[in-house]
Amino acid sequence: MSIDRGYALVTGASQGLGAAIALELARQGFGVLLVARTTAALEHVRAQAAALNGGRAQVLAADLLAPDAVDRIVAWAEGSGLPLTALVNNAGQGLWGYFRTLPLDTQLRMMRLNMDVPVQLTYRLLPLLQRAERAYILNIASMTAYHALATMALYSGSKAFVLRWSRSLRIELQGTPVRVTCVCPGSVITGFTERAGMQAMDDLARKFGSAPAPVAKTAVAAMLRGRAEVVPGLLNRVTVALQGLLPTSLNERVASGIYLKRLPRPGA
Ligand SMILES: NC(=O)c1ccc[n+]([C@@H]2O[C@H](COP(=O)([O-])OP(=O)(O)OC[C@H]3O[C@@H](n4cnc5c(N)ncnc54)[C@H](OP(=O)(O)O)[C@@H]3O)[C@@H](O)[C@H]2O)c1
Repeated sequence: MSIDRGYALVTGASQGLGAAIALELARQGFGVLLVARTTAALEHVRAQAAALNGGRAQVLAADLLAPDAVDRIVAWAEGSGLPLTALVNNAGQGLWGYFRTLPLDTQLRMMRLNMDVPVQLTYRLLPLLQRAERAYILNIASMTAYHALATMALYSGSKAFVLRWSRSLRIELQGTPVRVTCVCPGSVITGFTERAGMQAMDDLARKFGSAPAPVAKTAVAAMLRGRAEVVPGLLNRVTVALQGLLPTSLNERVASGIYLKRLPRPGA
């Protein structure tokens, strides 16, 4: 491995998009620090990454929603003495259902994972990133960040937050070594739909979804080029461009209609 780009910390790296991003980063010369809850799956990704980057891969099993999780991760990154040059805020979850019927606590936990955790990790790890000559923050939002979405009200809201926060932070960090990139993927075939309780949408996900590897490749390339925002996949980019031409209310109705059709209204 000829290039050494320092170390990238990736959350949600045990499977899906996070694992694919970790492997792509390893391929591009980053050492990787991998965080998720499932030790065995993390170890599997660690071994794959190590084979790509000369053994520079470590894991930390942590539930990001545990009260001490951010402290543990920061202590691990600082204590390692390794040069941190990238933070990938990837761990996240969806939740499919009507706001008024989903348990409030479950919805609040999703909001914490999708918003509070990336904010806390970024705030606490920025001083380490700023020590590097060049460093990156890669935040994973979603195409649902671009419009309101019935049955995923808080998920799309949380991803809109990630996108807006990323773009604002990017401007604040101009003139520093740290660049911020936000990725807005469309459907990616991972464990996401099952965990979100969206099995009724699986046929669509399989039809239009992408494998994680090409999405990860696009995301890492955009990060290295210092782009503000990227939507992986041509069809997805065309969709977002068309949405930009149409009235917001029409976009909301069309997108929400696809989801509402598969989820009967409560009491219906
Ligand atoms: N798949 C899609 O269609 C899609 C589209 C747009 C955006 N995204 C976004 O892409 C990101 C990755 O999702 P994915 O599709 O790869 O889903 P996934 O297959 O469910 O993977 C989620 C990852 O996050 C980790 N994770 C979840 N809860 C955690 C917690 N409390 N503590 C620590 N780690 C946790 C999981 O690991 P453990 O279970 O081992 O902890 C896993 O590695 C998410 O932010 C998602 O919103 C996905």
